[in-house]
Amino acid sequence: MEKISNALKGRDLLTLHDYTADEVNLILAEAKKIKAMQKAGIPHPYLQGKTLAMIFQKSSTRTRVSFEVGMYQLGGYPLFLSPKDIQMGRGESVADTARVLARMVDGIMIRTYAQSEVEELAEYADIPVINGLTDSFHPCQILSDLLTIQEHKGKLKGLKLAYVGDGNNIAHSLLFGCAKVGMNISVASPEGYQPNARILQLAIQDAQATDAKIEVGNDPVAAMRDADVVITDVWASMGQETEQREREKAFASYQVNTDLCSLAKPDFIFLHCLPAHRGEEVTADIIDGPHSVVWDEAENRLHAQKAVMALLMQS
Ligand code: CP
Ligand code: NVA
Repeated sequence: MEKISNALKGRDLLTLHDYTADEVNLILAEAKKIKAMQKAGIPHPYLQGKTLAMIFQKSSTRTRVSFEVGMYQLGGYPLFLSPKDIQMGRGESVADTARVLARMVDGIMIRTYAQSEVEELAEYADIPVINGLTDSFHPCQILSDLLTIQEHKGKLKGLKLAYVGDGNNIAHSLLFGCAKVGMNISVASPEGYQPNARILQLAIQDAQATDAKIEVGNDPVAAMRDADVVITDVWASMGQETEQREREKAFASYQVNTDLCSLAKPDFIFLHCLPAHRGEEVTADIIDGPHSVVWDEAENRLHAQKAVMALLMQS
């Protein structure tokens, strides 16, 4: 088993903005190695005897399974903590939960609503805290997306990524991710559903180091033109279920379909973090068609997060 870099030992992963371009590239490089070892059947118990607590305040298929299986494959033990069972669900504070868990486990992954909860957890737990999705960010998803794009396109720098849809957690983390690796990103969202202005400003700052071009507007046609990579996400995220109808109206002309994709490069690839709503943000012929790499993308959650856990939680 190859020795893993200790450059990120003990760090939290709250947003990709907190990581340098080199650090993002290091995670991707380690993910590639860990994936190759896994595929070759070479054991890689970087986290032998370690435990990861996984707090889920929202539903999950991919994040739960990839962290749980990933921890097991690294020789460690994952602990699934549902809000129905732990005291945090009955009002015990984030700070107290953080201090208790930090005395017993070696890392915490949390999926929740407010980014401030993840920040508070990280402040009070002196062990690595990993953001498994908040209303604002989904860094682990975007690491997996970058790994997938790199595998299919052989590079990241200089590519054009079109994101058509809600200016949500996925859009925000893509802005940071693209800025860090020097990939150009063009976001098209309806008025009122644009990415957060402050997050955009931070991404623009990040992009200065890599010359990534960042465009944010309302025009899906402009965003899609000559794109190498096309990404969308659900119109109503977890916690926005009551806005479903009004969002369907607002996003009607933002569907990723054959017409819109005809503007992208002929060899474009399509990604979606999943779960997807066929017939809403994307048509079945695109997500189930020849340009789609969504299953590779889902699989790469496992490899990317194993790299994150091994790098952050190592002894
Ligand atoms: N993409 C993603 O995070 O999926 P889950 O909600 O199933 O974890
Ligand atoms: N934007 C979506 C992503 C799900 C993985 C949500 O937050 O529900």
